[in-house]
Amino acid sequence: MTDIRKSIHGEWSSRFAFVLAATGSAVGLGNIWKFPYITGENGGGAFVIVYLGCVLAIGIPIMIAETMLGRRGRQSPINTMKTLTQEAGAESYWHYLGWLGVIAGFLILSYYSVIAGWAIAYVLKAVSGSFSSGDAAQISGLFDEFVKSPVQLVVWHSVFMIATMMVVARGVRGGLEKAVRFLMPSLLILLLLLVAYAMSTDAYQQGLDFMFNPDFSRITGDSVLTAMGHAFFTLSLGMGAIMVYGSYLPKNISIAKTSFLVAGADTAVALLAGIAIFPLVFANGLEPSAGPGLIFQTLPIAFGQMTGGLIFGTLFFILLVFAALSSSISLIEPAVAWLVENRDWSRKKACVLAGVFTWVFGLGTVFSFNIWSDFKLFDRNLFELLDYLTANLMLPLGGFFMAVFAGWIMHKQHAQEELQLDNISFKCWHFLVCYIAPAAVFLVFIHVIGVL
Ligand code: TRP
Repeated sequence: MTDIRKSIHGEWSSRFAFVLAATGSAVGLGNIWKFPYITGENGGGAFVIVYLGCVLAIGIPIMIAETMLGRRGRQSPINTMKTLTQEAGAESYWHYLGWLGVIAGFLILSYYSVIAGWAIAYVLKAVSGSFSSGDAAQISGLFDEFVKSPVQLVVWHSVFMIATMMVVARGVRGGLEKAVRFLMPSLLILLLLLVAYAMSTDAYQQGLDFMFNPDFSRITGDSVLTAMGHAFFTLSLGMGAIMVYGSYLPKNISIAKTSFLVAGADTAVALLAGIAIFPLVFANGLEPSAGPGLIFQTLPIAFGQMTGGLIFGTLFFILLVFAALSSSISLIEPAVAWLVENRDWSRKKACVLAGVFTWVFGLGTVFSFNIWSDFKLFDRNLFELLDYLTANLMLPLGGFFMAVFAGWIMHKQHAQEELQLDNISFKCWHFLVCYIAPAAVFLVFIHVIGVL
């Protein structure tokens, strides 16, 4: 019964390929760029604990649900939701969930590409020896100067968007799968090397304390929302990226097992990035709350001081670009799959259109770091608004409805047909998606709105 539908876009070649692709999607700028700076802004240890709690109680059950919906529907998230709604005999408006995801993916990619562009620019800075002075003030200054130049940001944003389009245009096996196969392991090795370097600094213990010694007085309603939003963001949940990857998953592969693997790898990379970065922050007298520039200001200092820093620095930023690339392709895949299904376009044409559209929107983020930096709404510039709207609101909302659909709308026996879990595990999962995950999202939202 489980193989009643087939994806017109192809399938992953194996379980390993799916795990790599989903890990490639999950591990990205969110782990290495965003996690350290939001941890720094939200006071460290307590924030990390809330984030880990959200990954476990909300993230993993929803990842299982999202993958399962995708594999059952076997189409782009919009059409998958249409099909599954009919199968469940439910009201037809559930496919708007697919649309919410497509819009969220487009908004996220518009700024994601700009930041990934920074990483490309930093590859060139690293290779040309710009960090070799090892002087903290001078290296942080480099970053401030760089983001002030709209022209440079636009150039690198364009390069990254073109790269994304080229990979997605080649399709499931040719593009997506090949790209991640060797990138992920290399990134892990380089991160471990950075951790080793951080251990050699005097501030290693101070960095660890900051990350793992919780001070709950620093937690506010908004930081809980940020931690929860980040759990969705870092696991690529709530917008259909994992759903569309699930739709290419061959049958008979355990969705629960792969979800644990992916979430585990993703969390490990984020924690390693934090362990590598905070000692460097303290060793060089920088502020953990420096914001989006944090890794671009701290890591180059380390590269400037260590032996072989030129090579390691260059390699690190190259791998960061690839980690970003294996994530960005999943942000646009739902839209591309839908255009291919419904407009009957070639993959290429769908990619170009979606890419150009996203690129134009990304200019807003570019300018929010320079010529429009004074433009603020609710005390946030355009980049911060987009980030808040997508990561903190749209993804949790999308995840909420996916959990509700999987738990309450879909026939239980259909879910079990896909998941093939033993009785107890299935009950556990079902309980989490029916009650815990939706209630947690709901409570955090209510709290932030200020009703509680
Ligand atoms: N998870 C990626 C990161 O941490 C970003 C990402 C890729 C994403 N696809 C997504 C975020 C889908 C939300 C939804 O860098």
